[in-house]
Amino acid sequence: MEQHHDGRSLENPVPVVAHLSAPIEPYDRGDEINSALRVVEHHTMVTRHRLAATYQIAAFADTSGLPGAFVECGTWKGGSSGIMALAHLRHGTQARVFHLFDSFTDMCVPDESIDGDLAIAQARATPGVTGPLDGSLRPMEGFYTPLGGHATPQDVRSLLIDTIGIDKRSVVIHEGWFQDTVPTARGDIGAIAVLRLDADFYSGTRFCLEQLFDQVVVGGFVIFDDYGCYEGCRRAVDEFLARTSPPMFLNHIDAEGRYIIKR
Ligand SMILES: C[S@@+](CC[C@H](N)C(=O)[O-])C[C@H]1O[C@@H](n2cnc3c(N)ncnc32)[C@H](O)[C@@H]1O
Repeated sequence: MEQHHDGRSLENPVPVVAHLSAPIEPYDRGDEINSALRVVEHHTMVTRHRLAATYQIAAFADTSGLPGAFVECGTWKGGSSGIMALAHLRHGTQARVFHLFDSFTDMCVPDESIDGDLAIAQARATPGVTGPLDGSLRPMEGFYTPLGGHATPQDVRSLLIDTIGIDKRSVVIHEGWFQDTVPTARGDIGAIAVLRLDADFYSGTRFCLEQLFDQVVVGGFVIFDDYGCYEGCRRAVDEFLARTSPPMFLNHIDAEGRYIIKR
């Protein structure tokens, strides 16, 4: 049975938290990555392959001196942001700002005309979801209950600042729907070294790309966590990249994760 993203599938849309405790197959920086995974494992639904790739990308950004912030749109409890923070603590020589965006509610409703069968099945399997699946910005109450509930800003602060040890002045949390928070924050963010998009559905992914891609430095990275998972995410990325010039190669991380290096 094909598994998606956080362990959900069309046949069984109830999520299973990714199991992170087993050692991953040999990776460059394997020991560092395994130890970082142990720090974030209870704060993430992202697969270990995608966390490992995120770690490697963040480490490369630091060792190669890429300027700009680390930005994540869709932090949930902060695990994939935390992986970047751990790479930065080990490899960074200059302070970096972490701009972290999330609604800190349950996931918004998908748009059944665009987000695909898995998104619709998950929405319909969520007991608190009523009304049309029209992509509107209202939380699907209970969507994250099987994973322990939706996140709070304090979950993210506590992981990055208290547990990992990033300076609190370098962690900026933007609470609310991306469509409200990103336009007002983008001026303060400035250059971006790594943009990690983990918004699941079409509208959030497309919106963040439209808003933030221009601020990614040449040689910087954009990670798409959900490309192979949700049809809406794939469509948002494909539509956006179809009109970027020069064309950019979409690298595979695993069945679902992709990334590009901006040219
Ligand atoms: C798949 S989870 C992120 C997983 C996370 N990166 C991790 O390490 O586990 C997606 C998150 O994005 C948030 N989200 C999705 N669309 C959003 C939007 N339009 N505005 C704000 N937050 C959004 C959800 O509330 C959820 O917390």
